[in-house]
Amino acid sequence: MGNLSAFFFTIFKHHKKLNTLQRSKETASMEIPIPSTINGNDSFHPQTSNELSSATSKSLNYNIIHNHNFFNGLHSWYANGCDAFLVSPSPEEPCNRHAVVTNRNEHWQGLEQDITTKILSGSRYTVSARVGVSGERLQGEADVIATLKLEYQHSETKFLFIAKTTVSSEKWENLDGTFTLSDKPERVVFYLEGPAPGVNLLVESVLVLCDDTTSRCIFSEDGNIILNPEFEDGVNNWSGRGCKIALHSSMGDGKILPKSGKFFASATERTQNWNGIQQDISGRVQRKLAYEVSAFVRIFGNNVTSSSIRATLWVQTPDSREQYIGIANSQATDSDWVQLQGKFLLNGSPSKVVIYLEGPPSGTDILLDGLMVKHAAKIPPSPPPVVENPDYGVNIIANSNLSDGTNGWFPLGSCVLSVMTGSPHILPPAARDTLGPHEPLSGRCIQTANRTQTWMGPAQMITDKVKLYVTYQVSAWVRLGPGATGPQNVNVALGVDSQWVNGGQVEINDAYQWHEICGSFRIEKQAAKVMVYIQGPAAGISFMVAGLQIFAVDRHARFRHLKRQTDKIRKRDVTLKFDSSSLHGTMVAVKQTQNSFPIGSCIGRTNIDNEDFVLFFVKNFNWAVFGNELKWYWTESQRGNLNYKDADELLKLCDDNNISARGHCIFWDVDNTVQDWIKNLDKTDLTTAVKNRLTGLLNRYKGRFKHYDVNNEMLHGSFYPDRLGQDTRANMFKTANQLDPSAILFVNDYHIEDGCDTRSTPEKYVTQILGLEQQGAPIGGIGIQGHIDSPVGPVVCSALDKLGVLGLPIWFTELDVSSINEHIRADDLEVMFREAFAHPAVEGIMIWGFWELFMSRENSHLVNAEGEINEAGNRFLELKKEWLSHAHGHVDDQCEFKFRGFPGTYEIVVVTDSKKTVKQFFVENGDLDLPFVVPVHF
Ligand SMILES: *[C@@H]1O[C@H](CO)[C@@H](O)[C@H](O)[C@H]1NC(C)=O
Ligand SMILES: *[C@@H]1O[C@H](CO)[C@@H](O)[C@H](O)[C@H]1NC(C)=O
Ligand SMILES: *[C@@H]1O[C@H](CO)[C@@H](O)[C@H](O)[C@H]1NC(C)=O
Ligand SMILES: *[C@@H]1O[C@H](CO)[C@@H](O)[C@H](O)[C@H]1NC(C)=O
Ligand SMILES: *[C@@H]1O[C@H](CO)[C@@H](O)[C@H](O)[C@H]1NC(C)=O
Repeated sequence: MGNLSAFFFTIFKHHKKLNTLQRSKETASMEIPIPSTINGNDSFHPQTSNELSSATSKSLNYNIIHNHNFFNGLHSWYANGCDAFLVSPSPEEPCNRHAVVTNRNEHWQGLEQDITTKILSGSRYTVSARVGVSGERLQGEADVIATLKLEYQHSETKFLFIAKTTVSSEKWENLDGTFTLSDKPERVVFYLEGPAPGVNLLVESVLVLCDDTTSRCIFSEDGNIILNPEFEDGVNNWSGRGCKIALHSSMGDGKILPKSGKFFASATERTQNWNGIQQDISGRVQRKLAYEVSAFVRIFGNNVTSSSIRATLWVQTPDSREQYIGIANSQATDSDWVQLQGKFLLNGSPSKVVIYLEGPPSGTDILLDGLMVKHAAKIPPSPPPVVENPDYGVNIIANSNLSDGTNGWFPLGSCVLSVMTGSPHILPPAARDTLGPHEPLSGRCIQTANRTQTWMGPAQMITDKVKLYVTYQVSAWVRLGPGATGPQNVNVALGVDSQWVNGGQVEINDAYQWHEICGSFRIEKQAAKVMVYIQGPAAGISFMVAGLQIFAVDRHARFRHLKRQTDKIRKRDVTLKFDSSSLHGTMVAVKQTQNSFPIGSCIGRTNIDNEDFVLFFVKNFNWAVFGNELKWYWTESQRGNLNYKDADELLKLCDDNNISARGHCIFWDVDNTVQDWIKNLDKTDLTTAVKNRLTGLLNRYKGRFKHYDVNNEMLHGSFYPDRLGQDTRANMFKTANQLDPSAILFVNDYHIEDGCDTRSTPEKYVTQILGLEQQGAPIGGIGIQGHIDSPVGPVVCSALDKLGVLGLPIWFTELDVSSINEHIRADDLEVMFREAFAHPAVEGIMIWGFWELFMSRENSHLVNAEGEINEAGNRFLELKKEWLSHAHGHVDDQCEFKFRGFPGTYEIVVVTDSKKTVKQFFVENGDLDLPFVVPVHF
């Protein structure tokens, strides 16, 4: 190990839906921070949430075949009427062995396993075996058959055919099938058979998975691929990673006892935080299968009472690359066992896989009792949420107009509330945008004085009024009391049990004007207590709130408007001009096969080892961005040690499939994303390093990336200008433009469009862009990342309008939405896609990944880990389909056929004299106000 370039971040961003006060939306950088302690031996893995999976001890979907790839020899297998032995292809791959079934005298002789105790009648099982044939008596090819032998107490033995495949010598084939038993035999034996007598049958692996999504498939055998998981066999099969391991029945004068069983193990004499206890699981994990991991851990010694423990996979690929995959992360203590849980998926075929625990500071022992790694239970798809009487548009705040004094309100903390007059009578713009015509506000406001803490302000309990899974818009006017000085944040906060949710906030710099707060929120877990309160200004500053509105948003009502808008701004009149007058009156059908509007996704290097991922990607996207592979900390994690291999390979995939690529990103202005060696440079060396980064990257890829994010997140960090001066950013743009004039140069930032971050309002973004342009920066596009929660269309649209005045193309560059419920996630996605596609300033939409376990946010995937498209994915595909135009009719007497459609690739079908002719044509984007004329020759 030792080269960060080889690091692989499965989950490279972390974003929490419900934010605690300490880790609020505003303080979490939207992309992964680079570790502050990168060195040769230190590994870094962004944490996965420990709230992740609730399915732990239950296994709903695991391989019921024991020793399925002969890792434990021929244990559990039986060669019926013949012989079997194991071979390894080479000494280097001792784990990659297969069984040879030989001395066969009958077709039916083969390898079998008793699965009686694991089969339930009525459940469907999927069989997938990897088989081959060999031997001198093999003539070309032979059939291999999977069969079930069903023995009954009172009736004849039955044989159930499952699947057959034809295999030729020197080749491995998949034998795939399914079966369901309607009755319950006395004995059930699975076996592989088929080739002619004398031919050897080869078996590499056998999977028999229960498709049942209920818990009926739980068995005593737990499917764990970890050997000796409970340390009943001492520390056999375990080893120390850079440290020692030891077996214990108790520790600390008998105070520490095993969580279960008789023993536990410790990783001790640790000198690095990556030291720990490990097990080699090579050959026992399969690619493209999701595994769930669970362990009980605690820490001991060195006066450390609490530390995070991480489960990590170290993976070596056949071409000797190393990857570190973060699986799970839990806060462990010295006082009790804590459960560590997570999931992982391998895209490619690794040559070596080791799972280990790491994390605590040196000198502290990691204690482990029981590690489980097994094929992950399938999570059943979420049902659509049922919301009764959502009461769209109705304010849930009591006595909002304050006609009844401060009734319904209470002061949070020791502040003092009073009612005053003189506030605006009109609704704040964002509420007006959503609600349409509305009665005027009362002109009364609630004043909060005598505040001794920032969190003090007017509050209401709304527990019984907020409905689960409903998206609420928040809107209010706020003003600071006389004499206050800015900048002060004012925030509408939701206290949801012990968590804090941001309902929108605004930064105020004066004591005279009323300011709008707009935001949104949604609650997805039943809460015992929901409170709304307004808070934020420094202690001692009084403030006023008028017209607080919290109301459910009817998303579908807005979709109707957006569809009309989309037809108006995205479609174009097209005239097909036929060159033969004999075609007059002929029936033509026009069908769009591809919309050329840029819709892209983030991809990562290991994803492209998964052919299912690649298939979905190339089929559904025409643009790409690389999650980390082009970032400076990836291409040059250590000074002078350049790695463009990953980016090259990703770019090749794009080129091969006509997919355009965005270059993300040349620099990243947020401090904790900058690698140590750069942080340690003096001004002169940093200037040189910046110059070399620009020339190295842009010369290498000249003309190949159509966009660059030049300096990521400049509203959230200022690493480079702080060190190199205020003209640094503009100079980055200028130099990039000189090196590759063909690339469009973007600014790129987050929380621009959702009203929840005062550092990155549309107004501040506009000011920053104008400032850079004044310094001569050739800015060609505005990137809105779009990591959004509970989006409200008009709020997003208002941000787009404010940025739209600059006249630059706007792209959503990293869009993702998150909800536990796939239907709500689908709705969120539809809100964002429809708003973007209906807005004339938006010229492209990139999503930040789509495959489960390869997303930066939880509950944001469109495709499940093992390739199933979920409700959000289906919604995305439906939108893509809706955005294809079709038309049919007759060629008119001008020899023309006219229709209106989206730019992109079309097929035209013309039927003449019972001859069907199909041609392709392309409608260019260009000036959509002008009709597009296509000459068609037949
Ligand atoms: C596990 O440990 C046992 C006992 O030392 C050993 O016989 C067996 O080969 C080990 N298995 C592997 C895969 O290392
Ligand atoms: C352990 O920590 C406590 C409190 O921080 C301190 O008083 C004590 O001296 C420490 N003991 C050792 C052995 O470092
Ligand atoms: C204030 O709002 C209440 C409902 O909360 C309504 O009944 C009342 O008529 C309103 N008063 C005024 C003066 O608008
Ligand atoms: C609130 O503060 C004012 C002075 O700013 C003081 O006169 C008043 O007594 C305080 N009220 C309470 C209830 O503490
Ligand atoms: C890629 O695009 C070019 C030009 O637009 C076209 O000629 C080529 O057939 C396309 N290739 C694929 C694989 O779609």
